[in-house]
Amino acid sequence: MNKKHLCSGHEVVAMSEEWLARIEKDQKLYTHGMVRLMPDGWLYPTTFTNFADKIYNFKLKSSDVVLMTAPKSGTTWMQEILWTMLHNPDLIHPDAHKSLLIRSPQIDFDMLQDGKAWVEKGVSMGDMFEELRQTCPDKKREDGVFVQLCEVTPDPRIIKTHLPLSLLPPDILDTAKVVYVARNPRDVTVSMYHHFQHLNLHSYTGTFENFAKSFMNNDLLYCPYWPHVKMAWEKKDHPNMHFVFYEDKKADIMSELRKLNDFLGANLTQQQLDNVVHHTSFSSMKSREREADDIVFNKDVRKSSGGFFRKGTIGDWRTHFSPELEQEMNHWIETNASEIGISFK
Ligand code: A3P
Repeated sequence: MNKKHLCSGHEVVAMSEEWLARIEKDQKLYTHGMVRLMPDGWLYPTTFTNFADKIYNFKLKSSDVVLMTAPKSGTTWMQEILWTMLHNPDLIHPDAHKSLLIRSPQIDFDMLQDGKAWVEKGVSMGDMFEELRQTCPDKKREDGVFVQLCEVTPDPRIIKTHLPLSLLPPDILDTAKVVYVARNPRDVTVSMYHHFQHLNLHSYTGTFENFAKSFMNNDLLYCPYWPHVKMAWEKKDHPNMHFVFYEDKKADIMSELRKLNDFLGANLTQQQLDNVVHHTSFSSMKSREREADDIVFNKDVRKSSGGFFRKGTIGDWRTHFSPELEQEMNHWIETNASEIGISFK
């Protein structure tokens, strides 16, 4: 690791060997270790520092929509909604079958490339790079496959990120539109636990209790959770910020789509909104889920837990928490949520 400071002003602090060994008992980490970015405490693979300044200085356009979430908050659902609203409201776009990774690239994805499990199994970003090279033959892989895919993806670009506002271009809200999705952190924890088991990148083998405690301790990739939500919540009244709860979408998707239609200025007709609801429903998205790739996903876990489109419900946390753990998490949520002034349903 060469960088000590990022353009965003964060100080890069390498995680200690002791911390890495402790965390690695339950999951796979990264060839080059992990870092925290201070003072916020963001926890990422060290490789993030190769791309951080590029992302911070990324040139946004007024037509861009940046979809920002803490992982497992319903990102993919919103990503498909945004792409369908802005590119495919009549459901006739020839690229609609392509992976969302290509249609709506994740700007921070390059940092995951040295995940030990992926390196061992030979997972590369090669196919994505080929996609990039078809449009831009002069691109170099080391400059970041996903960050460059974000540059060249057709307008209006829908850029996904799990990064917080403090690591994104400082003019983001003056330039682009931001959609932020938040979900009850209890359900986020459960969904993330299954994801960490399911994805070979993490190969999580610990208990749910350990996982939930790691989440509350900010010891999981993309943590800490609260400052991420807080930074977006503070901007919820900005005209270019649209803050949505997963639970509200579950309760009344049409009403949420109408709000989005106004926010995006998409002017979709009722028929087009109906198309979007149908095309992005849980059952419809699940039916289009690609066959699990053995080197990316763990097939056995996938079978038992239901895959990426696992349940898509509210309140599955009730089947996972012991009374003691529930109490601990309630306290964690109440303290942090009241400090921010946000309440989850
Ligand atoms: P569960 O694991 O609780 O089922 P993300 O996209 O941020 O990784 O979030 C994944 C979660 O969103 C998963 O939650 C997944 O099932 C849920 N999800 C994905 N598509 C959905 C849809 N169309 N409707 C409702 N939930 C959806």
